[in-house]
Amino acid sequence: MSAVPKSITVFKGDTSGLRNTVNVLEKIQPGYFAQEVDKIYRRAWLPVTSAAELPQRGSYVAVDVPPLKASLLVVRGQDDIVRAFYNICRHRANKLVPDNTQGSKLAFTCPFHAWTFAADGRCIGITDESQFVGMDKSTRALIPVRCEVAEGLVFVNFSAEPRETLSEWLGDIYGGYQGHFDGREQIANWSIVVNASWHITVNAFTEGYHSLFLHRATLPDYQGGKGNPMRHRPFLEVMPRHGRYSAKANPDHKMTPVEEIAYCAGRKLYPAFPRVDCSAPDFPSAVNPGRVDNWAFDITEFFPCFILIDGAEWHQCMWFWPIDADHTQIRVIDYAYGAASVGDRLAHSYLRVRNREVFREDISTMEAIHASVKSGAMPEIVLSQQEMLLQKHYAMVEKMVGEP
Ligand SMILES: [Fe+2]
Repeated sequence: MSAVPKSITVFKGDTSGLRNTVNVLEKIQPGYFAQEVDKIYRRAWLPVTSAAELPQRGSYVAVDVPPLKASLLVVRGQDDIVRAFYNICRHRANKLVPDNTQGSKLAFTCPFHAWTFAADGRCIGITDESQFVGMDKSTRALIPVRCEVAEGLVFVNFSAEPRETLSEWLGDIYGGYQGHFDGREQIANWSIVVNASWHITVNAFTEGYHSLFLHRATLPDYQGGKGNPMRHRPFLEVMPRHGRYSAKANPDHKMTPVEEIAYCAGRKLYPAFPRVDCSAPDFPSAVNPGRVDNWAFDITEFFPCFILIDGAEWHQCMWFWPIDADHTQIRVIDYAYGAASVGDRLAHSYLRVRNREVFREDISTMEAIHASVKSGAMPEIVLSQQEMLLQKHYAMVEKMVGEP
């Protein structure tokens, strides 16, 4: 076995059993995808929205979960509890709320025949009820999906009896953010469908090796610098299910003229990383988990298909929902500190545009990679130490697909 090459990277976690070659071809086949739906997506705790989207009693979000062909209605009830239901009227199975909408309601009335449901799911109104023989409204509540809020995210689990609690599923991540995202506001929200396997889309964000090359125009000097020219991650952790790494800022970063203007009045945001003191004992354990100096941001893969990028004063939630073996719906929501001035809004706008440009570069490789792998010419990819989270991703896929 060859020695691990020198790097500034501190690796944490059990990396035994990971392989630096992966047969991706077998994992983008429809038959394999069907197993992933049953063994991974029906069993995992899946983040479906951010708790920030449900700010008050009555707030709701209708969100679809493509791999399970499910539409969910996620609601903060009048008792302040967040619940998830199938977004299905209990009369004729019409969608109660249009997909991908949100707002605030005391109750939900189906547009078809005006059956009404409370925010806690109870059926509270059946029009012309006497015409339904033997009707008992209490048996017609919305169909619940197991739902819990943690780390600023709303998680659901579709299995009747989850194999792990949410705390067990998240491991060290659980409780690690300690309200770190409180007070932030949404600054961007968009989605796109790409002709690529969900694996290939997730893989584009869980390594920083590409940033020096693919992002050479948009992020020419935001990381690395003389002391770390290849932009090695200073901290990379393989957890039992998930994976995360931190990135360092480049101390020699030169703000561009536009960046100077964007951040002249508001707080500095990506890619002009402000210094953050992470040394306080009560600093959230999941933020800069390796306590690296000159910290820029973290990327955490919440297995299977959610990625959280968190930096000082901003974070990005990214979902990579498989539609089938060849198509993925990517959803992105950006958040930043609550704006109190026009200067803050300018800073937010710059972050929004900058993130989108970088993201456009990230998605630019996905369809080509998918088509190349599909051709069968090169079934196997090879991965470096800096791409260890990809190694972990595929190991976890194989583990769960192999479970009875
Ligand atoms: Fe990238």
